Amino acid sequence: MLRAVPGTNDIFARAREFPFREPVFRYIVETAEEVLRGAGAEMIHTPIFEYLEVFEKGVGPSSDIVVKKEMYVLEDRGGRTLALRPEPTAAIVRAYNQHGMKVWPQPVRLFTWGPIFRGERQQKGRYKQFHQIDYEALGLSDPLLDAEAIALMVRIYKTLGLKHLEVKLGSVGDPEDRSRYNQYLRELLRPHAERLSEDSRARLEANPMRILDSKDEGDQAVLAELEVRPMLEFLGPEARAFHQQVCRYLDQLGISYSVDPTLVRGLDYYVRTAWEVHHARIGAKSALGGGGRYDGLSEMLGGPRVPGVGFGIGIERVAIALEQEGVAIPADPSPALYLAPLDEAGRIEALVLAEQLRPKVRVEIGYSPKSPRKALEEALRKGARYVGFLGEAERARGVVTLKHLESGEQKELEPLQLHSLFEGP
Ligand code: HAM
Repeated sequence: MLRAVPGTNDIFARAREFPFREPVFRYIVETAEEVLRGAGAEMIHTPIFEYLEVFEKGVGPSSDIVVKKEMYVLEDRGGRTLALRPEPTAAIVRAYNQHGMKVWPQPVRLFTWGPIFRGERQQKGRYKQFHQIDYEALGLSDPLLDAEAIALMVRIYKTLGLKHLEVKLGSVGDPEDRSRYNQYLRELLRPHAERLSEDSRARLEANPMRILDSKDEGDQAVLAELEVRPMLEFLGPEARAFHQQVCRYLDQLGISYSVDPTLVRGLDYYVRTAWEVHHARIGAKSALGGGGRYDGLSEMLGGPRVPGVGFGIGIERVAIALEQEGVAIPADPSPALYLAPLDEAGRIEALVLAEQLRPKVRVEIGYSPKSPRKALEEALRKGARYVGFLGEAERARGVVTLKHLESGEQKELEPLQLHSLFEGP
């Protein structure tokens, strides 16, 4: 029997394993959509694959996605090299430029949701195909937009019902600040290269900042011993003022956060503001989402300067957190009426009647004739409110026998009476 690729998941209502229940996904997406539309964001769907360059140039040569070859790269019949999206931001900036959104009133606020692909090693909370909600505000470099993005992200989590949130805010500075910091790290760490993990040694020249993010205990021991100064101390005056302004706005909004001077993000395009939202109780893969500013990304893609800020929310991670906190997810409504044919002729009668009552009433039909007892069992299993029997006796009298499943009350109704019962006044 063929099975799904490990690290990918089927998402459906009765999935045994959390977090892969479809109503949970829908609840998360619909809640986010309501919050984001409420802030004037418009939905965009970009293709699931793009030319490889969009992501290679976008997420940057020293990101894990590129260094660890996590992208799913494919060649189409025209010999073009394509990649399944490892994140949506670069694709959205590509779309902004391609469709001339620069002439729209700025900022342009866009959001999307859908599958994301990264060939990472699978573990709980980390998958090869996962899903994100993504929001971007493009066209302006204004700390007010960063604070607004963080506020919207936090509001999505809170509206969902999550409580144990930690917002970690940092700044990765401007590119010049970062190269000064990287230079400092290289000089500091080179004499200790032997003691670093293989991954970290590989990063030492290209992007030593990522070493700070290493989960390797040996690396962490070296870093602690060297008392590494944080990125935040290397900010130039402009990036520093920008960061302080974001903090002031968040204070005014009453959003609690902690400044994490060591925060590093896995993508190269970030400048200045960077943040992550963690859940205090879901273990190692605790980032429910992350975001930041990327004022140079459009130019990295060969476009004009288009500043922007945004975030991505990991839907599976949020689902795990919702389960952890025991948040009740609205269940799918069960059918109001289950129409059960008792003989062959009742099948088409059930279908015709169901078509007349839908979509105002949620009606399911039984497809094969059954005894009234079997039909009743099935209606109960479906969680229906009423079961309607369609058999020979009913046909002779032009009625449906309707049974209320909770009270057991039973009566015969003509089709018109049935319509008014379900459709109301
Ligand atoms: P990211 O931090 O790479 O940012 O991903 C955002 C979120 O996606 C993570 O915080 C996590 O919840 C979830 N996530 C990441 N990798 C996996 C995985 N393998 N399995 C399950 N969940 C995962 C971005 O992607 C940026 N595009 C965010 C952004 C938008 N920055 C600016 N605008």
